[in-house]
Amino acid sequence: MCSSFPRVVLFVLSAFWVFAELVLAKHAGITRHYKFDIKMQNVTRLCQIKSIVTVNGQFPGPRIVVREGDTMLVKVVNHVQNNITIHWHGIRQLRSGWADGPAYITQCPIQTGRSYVYNFTITGQRGTLFWHAHISWLRATLYGPIVILPKPHVPYPFRHPYKEVPIIFGEWWKADTETVINQAQQTGGAPNLSDAFTINGLPGPFYNCSAKDTFKLKVRPGKTYLLRLINAAMNDELFFSIANHTLTVVEADAVYVKAFKTTTILITPGQTINVLLNTRHHHPNATFLIAARPYATGPATFDNTTTAGILEYHSPPPSTPNTKTPKLPLLIPTLAAFNDTIIATNFNRKVRSLANTKFPAKVPKNVDRHFFFTVGLGISQCSQNQTCQGPNNTRVAAAINNVTFVQPNTALLQAHFFNQAKGVYTTDFPENPPVKFNYTGTPPSNIMVASGTKVVVLQFNTSVELVMQGTSIIGAESHPLHLHGFNFFVVGQGFGNYDPNKDPANFNLVDPAERNTVGVPSAGWVAIRFLADNPGVWFMHCHLEVHTSWGLKMAWVVMDGQRRNQKLLPPPSDLPKC
Ligand code: C2O
Repeated sequence: MCSSFPRVVLFVLSAFWVFAELVLAKHAGITRHYKFDIKMQNVTRLCQIKSIVTVNGQFPGPRIVVREGDTMLVKVVNHVQNNITIHWHGIRQLRSGWADGPAYITQCPIQTGRSYVYNFTITGQRGTLFWHAHISWLRATLYGPIVILPKPHVPYPFRHPYKEVPIIFGEWWKADTETVINQAQQTGGAPNLSDAFTINGLPGPFYNCSAKDTFKLKVRPGKTYLLRLINAAMNDELFFSIANHTLTVVEADAVYVKAFKTTTILITPGQTINVLLNTRHHHPNATFLIAARPYATGPATFDNTTTAGILEYHSPPPSTPNTKTPKLPLLIPTLAAFNDTIIATNFNRKVRSLANTKFPAKVPKNVDRHFFFTVGLGISQCSQNQTCQGPNNTRVAAAINNVTFVQPNTALLQAHFFNQAKGVYTTDFPENPPVKFNYTGTPPSNIMVASGTKVVVLQFNTSVELVMQGTSIIGAESHPLHLHGFNFFVVGQGFGNYDPNKDPANFNLVDPAERNTVGVPSAGWVAIRFLADNPGVWFMHCHLEVHTSWGLKMAWVVMDGQRRNQKLLPPPSDLPKC
């Protein structure tokens, strides 16, 4: 009788402890400190040494693992000659726009020898995202995964994986990427194509002199692996498959989705997709190729190479000692053809929000403001006495509603916060295209774009519907549009020209995908909705870096709300100056 007394006390104490931990977890995360030293590093790929800009000398950059509710303090110190900014792609940055990162939008760049602390809290998000540089083409080598775990003791809404593996796709140039984009900007033509795609920084066996640089995924039989897929490539949407294995999609852009099985994944630059990989129950007598290659429908040439890794099962214990394990055959997946829009469309249509009581889909049901944006390529004038490489001695340009965005010399967010917009930006970004035409038909005779630093101003809590219409002015292609500061719901998509009388009837307001990046279909349209509940200046752009460079970008200014907790916080004291 007596001896059971301490046990009771222990039990009560430990129960109290668990309870206290749960209460604490509900209210506050912890503060995590990171240091990003931006420095040059020699890296050898495709038998060539190249000096690249890195974080802490690592390529790909360091993996950040945090929990929902945590606060991140990342001190970025710039030791290189280039100006630097870092963007936390997909993090909502509620009221903390100063930490978002796009150069000249939310901050001036961190200059050589300077530093800046990105300070933000992860609220209401869990899943996979990534960080990358957000200035010029430096994200070609400056990128890494962000893993946001659920709060303590909160399970995934799917089978708990045995292991989690980030798989980050990139794009590799033998040449220096800053030189590549600078040359293109001078001539007005297209930048040189990449020489390889990479999986976790490794091109794989299909490239010259690269077999040793192959990503290997070693697995055990009968287990579930969570693969955190991230497309950090510069200019290409990618199809991804693993030979003889089916994948189950469970999350997209750090939002859980209704699980579905597929053998082919489509992932655009800027998107992240979590998939479960169930390994075979018995050791197979084979290894399996993991491969990714582009989905491309445009008229332009693209890097049509394939990056690959190998899925390998840990070898079973030998039945008789000293028997050598035989060399296993390598099985190859059937990858979608580069222009297979049917596979691409079917994949995208399957991505649906969980939309249950725990994870509701808060789709705006009423719309305060409707916008219709055309997105696509066009041309602009070649400056005098110059020869340009665009069609008929013009420059290739890209535009939204015929406006090609001109980068300001100071950050828009600062100009907005201090009421100094004059001379920096104007608030007349067009809500509709300046001229109506058959967007997906024969191009109009005048395909010259206008230019300016124009924004749309939204009052706090405006519910927005935005239809983005792809154009076929210089050939039709898919554009992965990324919105900073928000997730949006993909309520509709279709091919041809959007019909405002007919198409809204088919919108999905029940369980649409909630994302931060969506492909505007090639020669088609996509409709999204979002609630402008985050005050600040929010960039929206094509996540194909070549199109961003050509001007396919704009910004939304969301005004403060009435309440104290609806206002943009003041800038941190170390905010870089231009
Ligand atoms: Cu991942 Cu504005 O970008």
